[in-house]
Amino acid sequence: MTFHTLNELIAEGVRGRYILVRSDLNVPLDGSTVTDDGRIKASLPVLTKLTDAGARVLVTAHLGRPKGTPEEKYSLKPAASRLAELAEFKVSLADDTVGSSAKEHASALQDGEVLVLENVRFDSRETSKDDAERAAFADELVALTGDNGAFVDDAFGAVHRKHASVYDVATRLPSFQGDLVHTEVEVLRKLTADTQRPYVVVLGGSKVSDKLAVIDNLIGKADTILVGGGMLFTFLAAVGHKVAGSLLEEDQIPVVQDYLKRAADAGTEFVVPTDIVVASKFAADADHETVPADGIEGSSFGTQGIGLDIGPDSAAAFADRIKGARTVFWNGPMGVFEFEAFSGGTRAVAQALTEADAFTVVGGGDSAAAVRTLGFSDDQFGHISTGGGASLEYLEGKDLPGLTVLDR
Ligand code: 3PG
Repeated sequence: MTFHTLNELIAEGVRGRYILVRSDLNVPLDGSTVTDDGRIKASLPVLTKLTDAGARVLVTAHLGRPKGTPEEKYSLKPAASRLAELAEFKVSLADDTVGSSAKEHASALQDGEVLVLENVRFDSRETSKDDAERAAFADELVALTGDNGAFVDDAFGAVHRKHASVYDVATRLPSFQGDLVHTEVEVLRKLTADTQRPYVVVLGGSKVSDKLAVIDNLIGKADTILVGGGMLFTFLAAVGHKVAGSLLEEDQIPVVQDYLKRAADAGTEFVVPTDIVVASKFAADADHETVPADGIEGSSFGTQGIGLDIGPDSAAAFADRIKGARTVFWNGPMGVFEFEAFSGGTRAVAQALTEADAFTVVGGGDSAAAVRTLGFSDDQFGHISTGGGASLEYLEGKDLPGLTVLDR
């Protein structure tokens, strides 16, 4: 695929023009406080480039998954305020997305200023499966750009969504690939072609069903897949272990069994934890103990025990594999890292990535938030992707509508 780049747009001249930019400002919040501003920081360079060149920038973005109507808790206000703190250009926020506030603010916008439109998902047409509905919404977004507008997609985290602000606007305006999308795609391409071996993939997170497609695609491509997080219990069950009250997707057991068999034939090794930190309940202060992975029901909590992290032996084994790799992709925490007592596995994996003499990619909002929460800095890793689902779908080999629509 080839794309028109942001530099081409700047070279055309953007002074005084309305440039619609799709950013990914989908950041975690605690009330109205942004708890991880990684995506905002990642969105800044493109906005800075455009404002420095004199563009009037209209930013579209989503936050969370509102149900197509405005809800205060999904407002982009906290994200826009954080953007304003970090930016050297003026940032304002409209009270709506394509309504009277958006129109008034847009017409008052000066060269080199940014207007953030309210959460695009406050309008049900944004995510509609009906092409005509999305088209109507896209038309209203595009109308805000006047008669000489252009579109820049810089929201890598949303390129897997066929949504109006990602896909349909790109069919209506001259469209360009933002630098963030460009970088992310270049990095992920290195994980799919001419990958330096050994290639180790670390997968965690709660649901194995979210990861099936990527696992399917990695069999035969990755040398080793390390399995942690809530999804590991479905793997343990697939090899016949009892998992007590731990997270289990019973209906996926046959699928995992099939993967384990196929992987053995294809030369991909799955490494499943040998010890587990089991807790009495899902709480930061829960009683807990480490038991062998085949003896979870033998913990003091019996059939009530819940596995909340991989154990220290597994963490050490995972770290060894990671340190022996030349390429590492990591998606999903190993345990409930938000609770100190259950953060050991995630911390060990993050630490090993920082020590590996390898090209390391951390993908997914949760893993990115995990490394920052645990005190690591972005520059300790080869690349921290802003895309969770998007990076997984890229590795699954799926068609990403937000990318294909930009293909010229
Ligand atoms: C993400 O958080 O991965 C992106 O912002 C996309 O969000 P979505 O999964 O709600 O579409």
